[in-house]
Amino acid sequence: MELLQLAWRENKILSSFNIAVLISGNGSNLQAVIDAVNDGHISNAEVRLVISTSKEAFGLERAKKNGIPNMVIDRRDTVKLLETLENYETEGIVLAGYLAILPPDIVKAYSKKIINIHPALLPMFGGKGFYGLKVHQAVIASGVKYSGATAHIVDSGVDTGAALVRSVVPVLPEDTAESLQKRVLKAEHIILVQAVKAMVENRIEDMIKKPVVLIDAKDREGVFEYAEDLIELGRAIAGEEKTV
Ligand code: GRF
Repeated sequence: MELLQLAWRENKILSSFNIAVLISGNGSNLQAVIDAVNDGHISNAEVRLVISTSKEAFGLERAKKNGIPNMVIDRRDTVKLLETLENYETEGIVLAGYLAILPPDIVKAYSKKIINIHPALLPMFGGKGFYGLKVHQAVIASGVKYSGATAHIVDSGVDTGAALVRSVVPVLPEDTAESLQKRVLKAEHIILVQAVKAMVENRIEDMIKKPVVLIDAKDREGVFEYAEDLIELGRAIAGEEKTV
């Protein structure tokens, strides 16, 4: 019996962290996570499963190319979703452009083990109706000079979970929603990988206490503008990278 327990424990210590990535579209964030696992930046982890709400999603091709089990599950079929996650021994979930809201039982079953990537600086431009290009259209219409991306924990609300990493991205005068989306997407890939790495390394609690804010060191104006916005919202930057 003791030997069996020891073998189980050793196996668990040596085995890698199973990640399921949920997508609905292109899957460039999925690709960023796959690349980080493949090149060893995220170690002791495996993208074990890719689930898409749509059979047209290009992210499914990315999964196939990397030999990752993949399937389409209707976004309303939450029973099948939970069953599949369990069958693949999922330990952490990444929502990478997943156009659906997870049901409360999945959020509860994977408490603080679900990360979402959002293409704006939450809590601004987040919540119901803020997805895809709509986010960037709203940012441009508001006239703010800075936007960005947020990797955050998924809780029972929409885009309300604790932020883990944010990246500040300037909005340029000539920007369209599409050009801003492209610039923000690059930042998403970087911070999503940082957040997933933290989850694999069991550092999520630390990150919730000290969320990271990435700001281009040359962009002094960006630092102050973002800090002012946060202060207005009754918050402050308390990150490893910058403290204002
Ligand atoms: C990203 O902008 C993400 O923030 C949003 O949907 C987009 C997905 O892009 N939730 P991709 O499919 O990862 O390329």
